[in-house]
Amino acid sequence: MEGLIGLVSTLHKSCTKLGDFGSDPLPSLWDSLPSIVAIGGQSSGKSSVLESIVGRDFLPRGSGIVTRRPLLLQLHNIDSGEEEYAEFLHLPKQRFTDYSENFSLLLLDLTIRAAMVRKEIQDETDKITSNSRQISSVPIQLSIHSPNVVNLAMIDLPGLTKVAVEGQPETIAQDIEKLVRSYVEKPNCIILAITPANQDIATSDAIRLAREVDPAAERTFGVLTKLDLMDKGTNALEVLEGKSFRLQRPWVGTVNRSQADINTNVDMLAARKREREFFATSPDYAHIASKMGSEYLAKLLSRDLENVIKARIPGIASLIKKGIDEAESEVDQLGRPVAVDAGAQLYTILELCRAFDQTFAEHLEGGRSGGDR
Ligand code: GDP
Ligand code: NA
Ligand code: MG
Repeated sequence: MEGLIGLVSTLHKSCTKLGDFGSDPLPSLWDSLPSIVAIGGQSSGKSSVLESIVGRDFLPRGSGIVTRRPLLLQLHNIDSGEEEYAEFLHLPKQRFTDYSENFSLLLLDLTIRAAMVRKEIQDETDKITSNSRQISSVPIQLSIHSPNVVNLAMIDLPGLTKVAVEGQPETIAQDIEKLVRSYVEKPNCIILAITPANQDIATSDAIRLAREVDPAAERTFGVLTKLDLMDKGTNALEVLEGKSFRLQRPWVGTVNRSQADINTNVDMLAARKREREFFATSPDYAHIASKMGSEYLAKLLSRDLENVIKARIPGIASLIKKGIDEAESEVDQLGRPVAVDAGAQLYTILELCRAFDQTFAEHLEGGRSGGDR
């Protein structure tokens, strides 16, 4: 199954490339690929949740509108002996690793590298938006190869908001909602409805939108963040046990780093350990501690994504076939002598499609002869 998720990642990548080329022979392919999308109000903890699933602090976070472009994130699990690295689609030859630097302390390396990735996301965001409060629907794509991640495709989006602040167009709330909706209304999207525990669930923007696009709650996970910030004497058991808002999938509670933790560089491992301790030692949550926290959420999601991919392979395969036909006829029209970029790109795309087609066919064959799992 790992190979299959890897394939889907490569497809994601080539779809984004197609968009860059301004050529789009596989228009609906992108839509058919499964992914996990975090939605919620501004500062509800979306970026923090995604980051703690990855186990590395590389995302820009903070108060206000920090995430201003969609970030398409591919996580690839590699063997523990292999080199961990991150790579942006827009910087294809540049691997963010620690090996190029002369730092001997591993932890220091990781911190520095994560900071570089974070800075690149910020710079790329600024490049395309004209001020620090505007948003853009043009995605940034980042892949992370690490022994410490599970195979997942995730998308970090700008937060839902209600009013425009200085420097934002009056339509910002609608613009963001439209952008978020364009991702979550796809049936292949697994929704993480991020809801802060220190806020009334009835006011959760994430739940409101999830309910609209997924009325049967079949592909929505409720994630309750900031459990450490609840008023003393209250707890979130009603929500976590699905009594406040029923979903088909479980609610998972998380405790991520506060702004103070971030400012004082509390690292991810320490934060995860603290999260585990929070649940294990809490009089309210100890009995459900094994089903709480970021690590548990990551496992749940990886399993779910596999099932979604499996269910969609035939659909994806037929889309690829269609893409090949369309690309072929476009190549025919251009004629072989066309040496310009467009022609060359189409050939590349065509080759990619054929390779995918082949691999999907093999997976399907394998699935049939070898039985399910
Ligand atoms: P986003 O805007 O939804 O992506 O939210 P961020 O992930 O950027 O988080 C917003 C702020 O809330 C940051 O300052 C985080 O440090 C803080 N935060 C997020 N999750 C938690 C949590 O579980 N506990 C605490 N105390 N703070 C959190
Ligand atoms: Na924020
Ligand atoms: Mg964010």
